[in-house]
Parts: sequence; C-alpha cells; structure tokens
Amino acid sequence: MKKILTGVKPTGTSMHLGNLVWAVLPFDRLARGNDAAIFIADLHALTSVHDGEKLRKQSFELALTYLAVHGPDTEISIFRQSDIALIPKLNWVLGSVTPYSLMLRAHSYKDFQQEREDLFRVIAHHEWRNEVYEDFLRLTWSRGTGGNHEKNLRRNIEEMEEKISAWKEKLNDVVRRFENNLNMATFTYPILMAADILAYDTDVVPVGKDQIQHLEMARDIARAFNKTYGQDVFKEPVAHVEKAVETLPGIDGRKMSKSYDNFLGVFDDEKTLKKKIAQIVTGSEGLDDPKPLDNDVYALAKVFATPERLAAMREKFEKGTGYGYGHAKMELLEILLEYLKPIRDRYESLKNNPEFVEEVLRKGAAKMNAKIEAKMEVVTRLVGV
Ligand code: TRP
Repeated sequence: MKKILTGVKPTGTSMHLGNLVWAVLPFDRLARGNDAAIFIADLHALTSVHDGEKLRKQSFELALTYLAVHGPDTEISIFRQSDIALIPKLNWVLGSVTPYSLMLRAHSYKDFQQEREDLFRVIAHHEWRNEVYEDFLRLTWSRGTGGNHEKNLRRNIEEMEEKISAWKEKLNDVVRRFENNLNMATFTYPILMAADILAYDTDVVPVGKDQIQHLEMARDIARAFNKTYGQDVFKEPVAHVEKAVETLPGIDGRKMSKSYDNFLGVFDDEKTLKKKIAQIVTGSEGLDDPKPLDNDVYALAKVFATPERLAAMREKFEKGTGYGYGHAKMELLEILLEYLKPIRDRYESLKNNPEFVEEVLRKGAAKMNAKIEAKMEVVTRLVGV
C-alpha cells in the first residue's frame, strides 16, 4: 500500500478530455488499493489569484469537478490545502533548511527573469528608435519648411509622439505587472510544495512533466532537513509521470491542450461540443469514398467509444458509401455524450448539493490533519519550537 498524493491549483480552468485521459483516469487507476489523496492547492493559487471570492469559488468548483470524475464515494481523499493549518508551519521549518541557491535554480523563477529581461530589451529598442526619429525631425526642421507644410508636419509629429508614449506606457505597465507577479511566494513556491508532499510521508506524486523539477526540489529539501537534524524524518518522494499512450488530437489536429484552445471540455454543454466537433479538421474524401482510419474523428472515437461502436464506425469508414465525415462527427458527439454522461450527471447533482462536497472536503482534511499532526510532533521536538 503506497501513499499517493497530488495537488491541483484552482486557477479557474475547466477540465478537458486530455486532462481526463492523461491525468485524472491514470490517477484513479493508480489510486486503487493504495492510500491516495488529491488536494486543491489554494495556497499556491494565491501567488496569482488576488480575488478572494473568485479563489473560493474556483476552489469549490475544482473539488466538485474531482468529485464528479472520481465519483462521490471514491476512496481517494479530497481536501483543501488551506484546511491543513500546519502546512504553513512546516513550510517555514523547511524554508529554514533550504538553500537560497536551490530556489534560484527553479524553472518558474528563471522563466520569469527571462521574460522580464526580454521585455526590457524591447523597450530599450523602442527608445532607441524614438531617438532616431527625433534626430530625423530635427534635421527636417533645420532644413526648413514653410507655411501650411510646417503646421502639418508639426501635427504629424505630435500624433506620432502621442502614439509612441502610449506604447511606452503600455510596455511599462506590462513590466510593472511582471514585477508584481514575481512575488516572494512565487519564488518560494517549491518549498510550500515540498511541505505538501513531505507532511504525509508521500511515496508517489503523479504530476505532469513541468513539475518534475519541483519534485526533485522536494527530495533535496527532505534530504537537507534529515541531514541538518541527523534523523530520517522525511521520506524522499518519487514523481510519477504518466506516459501518454493515448494520442488525443485537439480540434485543430495538434495535441489537445488548454494553451492551444483546441480542446473538448468534459463539462462543455452539448451545443458547444457539437460546434467544436464540427470544426475538427478532416480529409477531402467524398461522401462515398473509403476514408483512412488515421483521421482525427476516429482517433477520438478510439479513446471513448465502446468496442462494438468503434468496430461499427471503423467498418463504415472503410466502406465509405454514404458515410461522410459529417456523419462520423455526429456519431462522435453521441459517443462522447454517452461516455461523459455519468460524470456530467454526478456533476449536476453535486452542484445542487454543496453541503455534500463540503462534507467530503472536511473528511479529507480530518484524515490528512491527523497525519500531519503526528509528523509535526516529531519535527517540532527536533527543531525546538
Ligand atoms: N505545483 C503544482 C501545479 O502547478 C500543484 C501542486 C502544489 C502540487 N502542491 C503540490 C502537485 C504537491 C503535487 C504535489 O500543478
């Protein structure tokens, strides 16, 4: 029996089919027979969401989503990070043994620095252009122009200058926003994440590739603590990165992804799904022509259709007669609606029963609080607070 834990930030994005088959369902499989928990990383979301009401709503929505996909009587514990009062304390203890140099290596921080530098470069470049432009104007004046021509020129210049300063203002604003976003919590984010993981003696942490470095840092931090206090208090967790066996194209043919905005949402309403499916890029075979099976409609059906239904679709594609991509798309919509129905039904009924969701979160938190309390007894005795 392994302890499996993962966290999800409530940043307000809704779950799509890619998340479902690449992360959520594998977690469900991994959880079976193990001690598994998912938490809503609302403290981590604080680094970028600065609106209390919004964050609270998004956190609840995320809990609802996970409960809907895993089922209301799932064995997986679901809890809110902020309901574990000892996490910030452990965060501080761990921060006190974490080298500054370790944080400087974090991708998240380095990416921020890079973007900021790039922006400054852009601004500097435009200031340079501005200077050249002014030189040009001075020259124009010194050569002299007369009458209306002069007035026109002056107006042009004023307009251009206004444009340039508006542009500069905009860029400066972007820079200011970047500076504000790179807050201290963003910088120390990996330490809080280590606290999340180490608090419960987690063995395995299922994460996306982008989180591997954070997991390595959690291991480094566990080791730093154990070495400092000469005791094996914290277990070094391992990351579990799911190999994406299923290819899942988005509606534009690229990999389904939030950032490409090409996804089919698990909770998209029927009309939206239909509209998006209609946009799936397909071949130009005629209505009665056989159609190659490497088309994206079939690729999606392959993941979500029952074997019988898929076999029937395959046959129709291969034969072709009277079966166009339009027909196949309608079938895909049916397949998805059927597949998603239990999840969506659960979502609707849970939405009308927020007390139940809160109860699940309370139970989850109670279980995890018991674990961290035991752990912190050892920790606080060792560190002397
Ligand atoms: N940083 C993770 C993300 O952005 C969320 C997270 C916070 C997390 N704490 C965690 C994931 C602990 C795994 C374990 O997705």
